[in-house]
Amino acid sequence: MQTDQIVRTFVEYFEERGHHRITGSTLLPPPGDPVLFTTSGMHPLTPHFEGRPHPLGRRLVNVQRCLRTTDLEEVGDPTHLTVFEMLGTWSLGDYEGPRSLDWAHGLLTEGLGIDPGLLHATVFGGDERTGPDTASLELWQDRGIPVELTVEDNWWSNGPTGPCGPDSEIFLWSGDTPPPPHSTPTGDDRWVEVWNHVMMRHRRLADGSLVPLPQRNVDTGLGLERLASLLQGTSSVYESEVFAPWRTALTSLWPLDEPSHRVVCDHLRSAVVVIGDGVRPAPTGRGYVLRRLVRRVLTVLWRDDPTRSLGDLPLEPIRHTLDRFRQEGDPTHVRRTLLEEERRFTRLLERGRQVLGRPRFRGPLDEEDFHYLHDTHGLPRDLVLSLRR
Ligand code: SER
Repeated sequence: MQTDQIVRTFVEYFEERGHHRITGSTLLPPPGDPVLFTTSGMHPLTPHFEGRPHPLGRRLVNVQRCLRTTDLEEVGDPTHLTVFEMLGTWSLGDYEGPRSLDWAHGLLTEGLGIDPGLLHATVFGGDERTGPDTASLELWQDRGIPVELTVEDNWWSNGPTGPCGPDSEIFLWSGDTPPPPHSTPTGDDRWVEVWNHVMMRHRRLADGSLVPLPQRNVDTGLGLERLASLLQGTSSVYESEVFAPWRTALTSLWPLDEPSHRVVCDHLRSAVVVIGDGVRPAPTGRGYVLRRLVRRVLTVLWRDDPTRSLGDLPLEPIRHTLDRFRQEGDPTHVRRTLLEEERRFTRLLERGRQVLGRPRFRGPLDEEDFHYLHDTHGLPRDLVLSLRR
């Protein structure tokens, strides 16, 4: 099943059940939001969990692009990406968790044709503050889906304070042979999490205590690229349809081992989307996240061959990604932005090598040295460390 077809099936399924489609926001949260990037489909809806009415009603569905730097270290494994699309549904004080899980089960098995024997669920098992989520547990038992109870893994929040709640995660089996009896998501990583349902009914305060939200909400998010790759039978998201133009372009341009190839694919595609949303490389904030993505790509590329240049990137994968994310940007302009950052990084590395060659910096460096190198020469600590390796 093609990725666009998954999106259509998902959205129509929920529209038929009274949900209104809302337009996903860009990666940039509204002004005043302390978070750099939208990390989840629920993020732009936060005020509506707190009770502010949404103009389109209490049942919503959308496709939201998200960026997570918390997953950066995991990028390169078969399922984690820096920028990804999340299919989301919301009940804003309307229906409760079991109905949401029941619809999810219906969509996955009937709508998308997944064998129910390949599904597993996890449910919040309860802790000293909140009891177990028995309503979700019973729903899954009724549907014949195996359930694992956990505590930390089944509590979702978007930050240290704000709306949060117990969640129930749905996993899909990715193994080549049927799941062994008694295999569970925490014990076998061939179970891949695809869809999270958060029973968003608490607010955590700064002192860590929980108070009830004015209404009981359900917030769900499904990782599109992950689900697409599993439905397309590929062993990682990088082999699925959305990465095909990147794989084709990069394979002929720069021969890389698979782990490096994945990092380059993920970071370049993410950088394109970030630039497409209007961010430019900068020493702080969003621009710094973009800068780190581009510089990590260059570090990987130059390990084998320092003459490699982002100026050689074909426009096709850039164009494909901008289209996928419904962005207006001009691919040539995006490539130019990448190339300008490459030139800046080249100059910085040259300066770094010169400065670090001075006798003062030959021995071990202390905090004062790091401050001086950063403040006077613009050399961040991680760059200094990599140049001295
Ligand atoms: N907010 C939850 C998540 O991001 C469900 O949408 O996983």
